Amino acid sequence: MSGTTPSSTLVAGDCLAALDAVPAGAARLVYLDPPFNTGRRQRGRANASFEDRFGAPADYLAFLTPRLERLYETLHPDGSLIFHGDWRAIHYAKVALDALFRVGERGGGMFVNEIIWHYGLGAARAQRTLLTKHDTLLWYSRSRDYCFNQLRGPATAAMLDKYRHQAADGRRFMRSYGKVYYLKGGKPLDDVWDIPALAPTSRERSGYPTQKPLALLERIIDLASRPGDLVLDPFCGSGTTLVAARKLGRSGWGCDISPHALDIARARLASLPG
Ligand SMILES: C[S@@+](CC[C@H](N)C(=O)[O-])C[C@H]1O[C@@H](n2cnc3c(N)ncnc32)[C@H](O)[C@@H]1O
Repeated sequence: MSGTTPSSTLVAGDCLAALDAVPAGAARLVYLDPPFNTGRRQRGRANASFEDRFGAPADYLAFLTPRLERLYETLHPDGSLIFHGDWRAIHYAKVALDALFRVGERGGGMFVNEIIWHYGLGAARAQRTLLTKHDTLLWYSRSRDYCFNQLRGPATAAMLDKYRHQAADGRRFMRSYGKVYYLKGGKPLDDVWDIPALAPTSRERSGYPTQKPLALLERIIDLASRPGDLVLDPFCGSGTTLVAARKLGRSGWGCDISPHALDIARARLASLPG
């Protein structure tokens, strides 16, 4: 499924069955943003909505576990899985994922990072609690030899001042004791990401509820896969992962149980250049 010309595949239905069509070991990266078990129906514009009620945590886990097991099988030996959740169930998911990846066992996989996505925007109604402004992403890899591309933030003014010379190829550098040091960029990325959620007026908005920002998915895909790889999203909703994958030269495979979500995802992919 991965190759030199990146492709985008959208499949309708329950991902548990749909994943049978994905060969074992095919995906370098699985990103999943399943329903969070908020206990309500998520509604967007027009008839865009999906059910987000699974009952007790044990029932929610009973839904997730067989799908996580299937997803594990689709992972390449140096592949990663990134689970996106929030305070409601992230701790249950972590226990299930630690067991699935056999974290800490000889020959098992690895827990790589817990990433806090701090999104700023959104409801500001809390009266007797703090405002809730983050989601949690759990990153697991199948082996210690996982794909990791170090990303860096922008260089600060102080760094630019220090590396004030410019080479013919445009790179900035400084000299110290006769040696030349090139500026690599800002500080290596840490695990707290400030990326704004989509504002109601954002041009990126598709009208699908819980749509995630492209900037978030582009960063995830940049970090944990390479051009030409296959990126899988079994709960793809409006197709954000597939759009980001296409933009970054990766193949995308997405599934959703809602035909309306897939219509939106298809339209978003069709609007991309090329
Ligand atoms: C949180 S949303 C994903 C939003 C998506 N990340 C985006 O940016 O638009 C979760 C999605 O899971 C879908 N879903 C729920 N149960 C599913 C299942 N068993 N198989 C596939 N998709 C499912 C819902 O229809 C919904 O679109």
